[in-house]
Amino acid sequence: MLRRIAVMTSGGDAPGMNPAVRAVVRTAVARGVEVYGIRQAYAGLLAGDFERLTSRDVSGIMQRGGTILQTARNKEFETPQGQKRALRRLNEHEIEGLVVIGGDGSLRGALALHELGFPVVGIPGSIDNDIWGTNMSIGVDTALNTILDAVDKLRDTASSHERCFLLEVMGRNCGYLAMMGGILGGAEFIVIPERPTTLEEIGAILEDAYMRGKSHAMGVVAEGANLKTHEIAEYLENHEVGFEVRVTSLGHVVRGGKPTAFDRLLATRMGVAAVDCLLSGETGVMVGLHGRDIGTVTLLEATTKERVMTESYLELADILAK
Ligand code: F6P
Repeated sequence: MLRRIAVMTSGGDAPGMNPAVRAVVRTAVARGVEVYGIRQAYAGLLAGDFERLTSRDVSGIMQRGGTILQTARNKEFETPQGQKRALRRLNEHEIEGLVVIGGDGSLRGALALHELGFPVVGIPGSIDNDIWGTNMSIGVDTALNTILDAVDKLRDTASSHERCFLLEVMGRNCGYLAMMGGILGGAEFIVIPERPTTLEEIGAILEDAYMRGKSHAMGVVAEGANLKTHEIAEYLENHEVGFEVRVTSLGHVVRGGKPTAFDRLLATRMGVAAVDCLLSGETGVMVGLHGRDIGTVTLLEATTKERVMTESYLELADILAK
């Protein structure tokens, strides 16, 4: 039986991290285990920035975006010396298990600790939905709802002015948010890192849409796509496709805001499951949404296997844009 565990949030913040922290703390307390929060992820771990958390400390955070524990990206922890120092800090504080909530880099850190023999469980938290071993990561649903809100608003002005809006959304290596935002927002075209496209292709799609009588158009472009919004805009302006062109970038707006019901539920279920895994000795794993259930995969699989874009979504996007 573990007596004391710790929890941290790491990498880019994601809406739903707070409900996950709340679930971890309250589940541990209910099972008679003390919990410590580690501030600012691996940087705080190396600095020994630990704080005891009680059930009251996590009151009123269910609906808050960001993370009360704060987060950071840390280079020192990536070195073997950094990892050994981190382990020493955990031992100094008599921590016997750790829950890491974060994206792929954070889970790789968790794997490093596991490989040094420390009991760790990961929770996938990243708006990108690029983590293998879970249908959805914490924060994705909220981010997608923020994107759809923006698309709907841009459509109002686009249709009033006969314009084409180019909307850039986050996603350095993974186009999930752009793909779903485009399909569900009714975009004419979507540009994602997984499927490079050409300026000519985009021009032809828009010209065709204009000639078929569309009053406005929308393109959703992932941050890491092969074409950037400004170069698409320049091309379209020079080739007079019919619509006037405007560019909007949502940037970090997509990472903020209160978590949706879906994210609160997912985060809560994952937080409970993560503590139960630690206490039952199932460590070196990441909890994930498998169908309707919360299951586990190893941290090694989660960090080495690549999540691929579902082909049928690409097809769906093309059919629905016509
Ligand atoms: O991984 C989440 C994410 O929001 C990516 O979509 C984006 O590319 C990156 O983080 C931005 O990171 P930062 O907040 O460090 O600029």
